[in-house]
Amino acid sequence: MTDSRTEVYGIIGRPVDHSLSPVIHNGIFKRMGLNAVYLAFEVTDLREAVMGIRGLNIRGISVTLPFKTKIIPLLDEVSGVAEKIGAVNTVSNQGGRLIGFNTDWSGAMKALEEKVDLRRKRVLLLGAGGAARAITYGLKENGNTVIICNRSNDKGARLAREFDCLSRPWSSINELEFDVLVNATSVGMHPCDGASPVRKETLFKGITVMDIVYSPFKTKLLQEAEEKGCQTIDGLAMLAHQGAAQFEIWTGRKPDIDQIKKDLRETLGER
Ligand code: ATR
Repeated sequence: MTDSRTEVYGIIGRPVDHSLSPVIHNGIFKRMGLNAVYLAFEVTDLREAVMGIRGLNIRGISVTLPFKTKIIPLLDEVSGVAEKIGAVNTVSNQGGRLIGFNTDWSGAMKALEEKVDLRRKRVLLLGAGGAARAITYGLKENGNTVIICNRSNDKGARLAREFDCLSRPWSSINELEFDVLVNATSVGMHPCDGASPVRKETLFKGITVMDIVYSPFKTKLLQEAEEKGCQTIDGLAMLAHQGAAQFEIWTGRKPDIDQIKKDLRETLGER
C-alpha cells in the first residue's frame, strides 16, 4: 500500500520498459517492510527529469542508457570513481543535493569475487563501451592484468591506454592466454542467442568466464564454458550486486543478494 508518506525511487532511461531494476528494488522494499516504491521513468528531456528529482523529492534514482554520462554535469556532486569511469548509474538525493555514484564496477567485482580470487589474474575483457569501462576500472583497482579486445580496435586501444591495460586486435581473441574471460559486449544477447564472442576451443577447464549479458541468462558463451568445465558467472550476478549497492547507498541497509537473484531469475523465466 502506498500513502502520503511513501518514498519514491526510480530509474531514468530510454527505453526503460524492459528494466529489471523495479523487480530488484520493489522486492527489497517489500521484504524489508519499507514504505517506498520504485518506478520506471522513460525520459526524453534529461535536464527536466533531473529538476523533477529535486522538485518532487525523489529519494534515489538509477540511471541507464543513454544518460549515464550525460547526467554528470547536471548533478551537484559526483564521486571520484564515477568521474574516473565517466558514468553515473546511481543518484542519491541528500536534502536536495544530487550526488552521483557508479555501482556497475563494484557490482561486477562482487559478482566475480563470488567465484574467483581477484588478485594478479590475467583477465581478457571483451568490449570497450560503458560497462567495459566500469569493469576495467574495478579490475585494475584489484591489481589484475587486463587485456582489452574490442570490435572497433581503436576504441579498445584508447580504453587500454587510459587505464594502463594491454590491448589486442579483435581478430586475435581466440589466440590469447588468460585466467578470466569477461564478455562486456552485447554479443549473445536476445534475439541473437546463437552467437558467442569466442570459439568453444578457446575455453578450457580452470578458467572463469563471466558474461554481462543476462537475457538469456545462460548465453551460448556460458553454456559452452560450462561444457568445457569452466567456472561461470551469469549477467544476473552483476545486475543483482550493482542493485544491492545502489540500495545500500540510498538506505544504508544491506539487502539479501540471493533473494535478489531469485527474484530476477523468476521474472526473466516468466518473460
Ligand atoms: P554498454 O554501455 O552496455 O557497454 P555500449 O557502450 O553500446 O554498451 O557498448 C557495447 C559494446 O559491445 C562495444 O564494445 C561494442 O563494440 P564497438 O565498440 O566495436 O561498437 C560491442 N559490440 C556490440 N555488438 C557487437 C558485435 N556484434 N560484435 C562485437 N562487439 C560488439
